[in-house]
Amino acid sequence: MKDNKIQIFDTTLRDGEQVPGCKLDTNQKLVIAERLDSMGVDIIEAGFPISSPGDFNSVSEIAKIVKNATVCGLSRAVQKDIEVAAEALKHAVKPRIHTGIGTSDSHIKYKFNSTREQVIERAIAAVSHAKKYVNDVEFYAEDAGRTENEFLAKVCEAAIKAGATVLNIPDTTGYCLPEEYGAKIKYLKDNVKGIDDVIISCHCHNDLGLATANSISGVVNGARQIECTINGIGERAGNTALEEVVMILKQHPYLNLHTDINTKLLYDTSLMVREKMGMPVQPNKAIVGANAFAHSSGIHQDGVIKNRETYEIIDPEEVGVTESAIVLTARSGRAALAYRAKKIGYELTKIQLDKAYQTFLQFADKQKEVIDEDIHLIMKKVSNISKI
Ligand code: KIV
Ligand code: ZN
Repeated sequence: MKDNKIQIFDTTLRDGEQVPGCKLDTNQKLVIAERLDSMGVDIIEAGFPISSPGDFNSVSEIAKIVKNATVCGLSRAVQKDIEVAAEALKHAVKPRIHTGIGTSDSHIKYKFNSTREQVIERAIAAVSHAKKYVNDVEFYAEDAGRTENEFLAKVCEAAIKAGATVLNIPDTTGYCLPEEYGAKIKYLKDNVKGIDDVIISCHCHNDLGLATANSISGVVNGARQIECTINGIGERAGNTALEEVVMILKQHPYLNLHTDINTKLLYDTSLMVREKMGMPVQPNKAIVGANAFAHSSGIHQDGVIKNRETYEIIDPEEVGVTESAIVLTARSGRAALAYRAKKIGYELTKIQLDKAYQTFLQFADKQKEVIDEDIHLIMKKVSNISKI
């Protein structure tokens, strides 16, 4: 495969914003869009313009200010949606219309009360219509994860013939296993005429906690775009987390796949999205959670203090976190106490440390965490150890 760059398509402002309670106003969206643009995101999905006048306005304003990234607007396979998306994107330097239709049997039967043949016709009509306004048209086969591969290949081939530049293969319900999703991408690579002239995109939801694994399996099998959100927010259990896929590709150079994301901005961008959306991140969230670089058991702390790499596969500075945290708890050992005491100004002899550690354990057994104020008290209690 020639091009090993993975395009990062961020949908924080569209799929991410669909989460109840995460609604943003245009100004908030502009701030996030500017950040995504400056951190190296390739495509920003700015919204779903037909969905509301507010969303139309946000997409339109984002299209005006984004300098580097492609700006994308979502539409259903409906003429009016496509026209409104085109209008919202008209000031974008690089506009993309993202249009598509459900392709699984349950979508065809229950959502559309239609047939496979009619769905292919609607796909062709949607892509052809979008092509009248923009050159870059991404087609999504909604619920591709549960769509039979042979039929999916037919839909994809028809979309390519109609002019699609990108084929999005969403695992809309987060159903697939990584092997299955990867095999689906490979099947399309092997069986769809014209597939090498377009980009295949992974859009994976996290209902079974597999969104990131599925996206990686997709790119290993030939996809070249990942659709994701900051902090993995999105419908239900969320979308693939941008920070996770970017760091996986960076930490595994033998995959020979890379992104253009400035990883030093990951943590700050995560904080920005939490704050603007009022959506907290679980402490044990990979890469950006409060505990992602925190060590609390004695064995781990001792290892990390001797050499960070014993228990850390990522240098926290690489993702914009200033340093690893050594959290003092009843499971901490002497090395951690000495380390934290030194950080706040106490250099302990071995005898002092032994004494201080006994007092420390009394504190630690009574509380969840021993903080710096407690260490000052411990030092006072134990033979008046003073600062260096
Ligand atoms: O999950 C999904 O299928 C989607 C499409 C609209 C791309 O978000
Ligand atoms: Zn989605």
